Formats: sequence, C-alpha cells, structure tokens
Amino acid sequence: MEKQELKDFITNEIRTFGRRHGKKLSNRKQWLMDNLLPKIAPKSDDFSEKPAILEIGFGNGEHLRDLALSNPDKIIVGAEPFTNGVAALMSSITNESDNILYDEYKNIRVHPDDVRLLLKDFESAQFDEIWVLHPDPWPKARHEKRRLLNHDFLNLLSKHIQNGGKIVIGTDHWEYYDWIVEQLKQTNLKILSTDLDIIKTRYQLKNKAGTFAPKYLILSNN
Ligand SMILES: C[S@@+](CC[C@H](N)C(=O)[O-])C[C@H]1O[C@@H](n2cnc3c(N)ncnc32)[C@H](O)[C@@H]1O
Repeated sequence: MEKQELKDFITNEIRTFGRRHGKKLSNRKQWLMDNLLPKIAPKSDDFSEKPAILEIGFGNGEHLRDLALSNPDKIIVGAEPFTNGVAALMSSITNESDNILYDEYKNIRVHPDDVRLLLKDFESAQFDEIWVLHPDPWPKARHEKRRLLNHDFLNLLSKHIQNGGKIVIGTDHWEYYDWIVEQLKQTNLKILSTDLDIIKTRYQLKNKAGTFAPKYLILSNN
C-alpha cells in the first residue's frame, strides 16, 4: 500500500470519543499550529541522539508536560490526532506574550495524528517508556474492534521498547482493562506491576462517566 493510501486507510479507521477537529481555535493557537508545530515534529535524529519516551493519545498534554519536566535529558514524543488537544498543549508550553517555547519544554516533539503513522515513519524508533492513559474504551460490544490496544497493536508497541523498557497503560474502564489483559496472552509482553499512583490527566479529573478508579498495567517484553 502506498503511504498516502495507508494514511487514508488508517485515518478512516480512527474512532475517538472526541472529534478530530473541535471548536475553532483562537488566533494564538492557530498561529502556534501553523508556525510552532512543524518545528517540533519528530525527526529521525531525535531517536538516535537521546533516549525517548512516547505518550499515545495525550489529550490536552498534562501528563506529557510532566514527562518533559521530569525527564529533561530525554526526548518526549506525543501523538494525538485531536487538533484542539494539540493546540491546548502548544498554548501551555509557550509564553503567551511572545509565543516562544519555554526552555523546560524544548524536549517535547509532537505528532498531530494517529500514532500508527508515526511508528510507520520511524520503524526502528526505540523508546524507554510508552504511555497510554485512558485510551478510548469503546464500551459497546459492536465497537470492540475499534479498541486501539488489541494484540496486534500491543505487539507493535513491544517492538518499539528498548531492552528493559516499559509500557504503561491506565484506564478506569475495568472491562477494557480485563480485555487488554486477555489480549496480552497473544503477545510476548509480561505484566511487571499494576501498582502506580493515580495520574491526574484531564480525562481522569473530569471523570464524566463517573467510572471507577483507574487501574494500571506496567508491561515489559523481557
Ligand atoms: C479518552 S482520551 C484520553 C486523553 C488523555 N490521555 C487523558 O487521560 O486526558 C483518548 C485520547 O486518545 C486519542 N487517540 C485515539 N486514537 C489514537 C491513535 N490511534 N493515536 C493517537 N491518539 C489516539 C484521542 O484523540 C483522545 O484524545
């Protein structure tokens, strides 16, 4: 399949609870999308020069920013197809008066699209950590095939973690959690731990569905 065909195919396959494009962006956010975003796109050098961490579906980027602050020597790559989330991140990592990127966030790279396209473009990229916090649960049985964390995708992620690296998954949808645990049986991933302090992402704090406390999976491939 040609790259554009693949892109169309994958893009058509993405289903999220949010829209890919939400409300119109402010002038500042639109400026950041047009001018800053291309400058902080992931490049192949990013993966050869420094260790990297990936966050998939970063929403508005609260946890991505925490990762950037607590890992100043690593490259923090975020993938998120929802434009308003990407714009919210851009806004929070730049100074409102001059739109300049704050120094402490200079290690952030953003792929504003499906993470599967990023992993296709950077087939040999290796990450110390891969985070997936509150993936869309697709609770209806007929939508189960839309769930991102199926065994094929988990096997793909497994290829992208360094020796000794880890994948961290968090969800408050316990049925999805159990489903992921079942999917793991068709992968080489092992559960290292399920013990993690609750991470307060925007989704977690809103907890619109009034669901349970999040459960976590920390996985390794060796
Ligand atoms: C329920 S939201 C959680 C957002 C954030 N992690 C949080 O906890 O606030 C799930 C996010 O995953 C993103 N997403 C869905 N499919 C994706 C994919 N294939 N690649 C990257 N992100 C994806 C959605 O756009 C959405 O922002």
